[in-house]
Amino acid sequence: MAVVTGAASGIGQATALQLACEGASVVLVDVCDSEETQALLREHGARSVCVTADVSDPRTATTARDAALRHFSAASVLVNVAGLPDVAPEPGIACVDLDRWMRVMAVNLNGPFLMARALLPDMQAAGAGAIVNVSSMAGRLYSLNATPAYTASKAGLLGLTRHLASDYGAFGIRVNAICPGSVDTPMLRGSLDSRDAATRSDPATQRRRDRVAAVRSMTALGRMSTAAEQASVIAFLASRDAAFVTGVALDTNGGFYMA
Ligand SMILES: NC(=O)c1ccc[n+]([C@@H]2O[C@H](COP(=O)([O-])OP(=O)(O)OC[C@H]3O[C@@H](n4cnc5c(N)ncnc54)[C@H](O)[C@@H]3O)[C@@H](O)[C@H]2O)c1
Repeated sequence: MAVVTGAASGIGQATALQLACEGASVVLVDVCDSEETQALLREHGARSVCVTADVSDPRTATTARDAALRHFSAASVLVNVAGLPDVAPEPGIACVDLDRWMRVMAVNLNGPFLMARALLPDMQAAGAGAIVNVSSMAGRLYSLNATPAYTASKAGLLGLTRHLASDYGAFGIRVNAICPGSVDTPMLRGSLDSRDAATRSDPATQRRRDRVAAVRSMTALGRMSTAAEQASVIAFLASRDAAFVTGVALDTNGGFYMA
């Protein structure tokens, strides 16, 4: 039984589908409606339940845990995918006001912390479990098209991953992260296209496009990833095939950053 946040779209939707195809029942957590994902899972004969709520609200994690227990069983897998992109209008810290900084941290870092805190006791009681956190290449390096808040939140998530892996390994619980490069999802497309058609060719948007084009040209595989390709790696880390893998930040960037 798996809990997936950010399940309404992109990597989260692809992950929910992949886990469902592998036999999991899934609690779909998203601030937006996850009905499209639920319909996809249903087509594949999988059971799911939607929790429409904000992961930065501490009540959401408890609601997701309760939904899992009520409809299925205690969660053995948690995938923290939900995240905010936080596009930078200009380089530098001046464009990040405190409210924005707090919001990005609340969703990208507090969210995974709250979800893990709610679900780990059941995993501990079962003596098994897997958590996969979706960080970013920004967490390993820096973001090419988002703010310092995004980079810091994703780097913080890697720290949380390592610490939980260390604390919970003895209980049979593995905690890992993936660090995607550019993935063709609504989030990336949204960061490239201004919602306002009149500003679509503004210098800031053009600069972000140039940076993403540069990433693509510097990526060994020469293209963006699909959400399904990220979901496959997440599903691997969540599976028994990765039984001896924990505390890892797995680079899923097509060879842009190699370490
Ligand atoms: N797309 C990329 O190029 C890329 C690269 C690196 C990392 N990532 C990370 O991958 C994750 C998924 O991004 P995606 O590209 O699939 O984007 P996406 O926009 O397609 O999906 C993100 C989902 O998270 C949900 N969400 C946002 N804030 C939320 C909140 N407060 N509570 C609950 N749900 C919330 C959204 O509603 C959306 O369904 C994010 O954490 C993102 O930072 C994406």
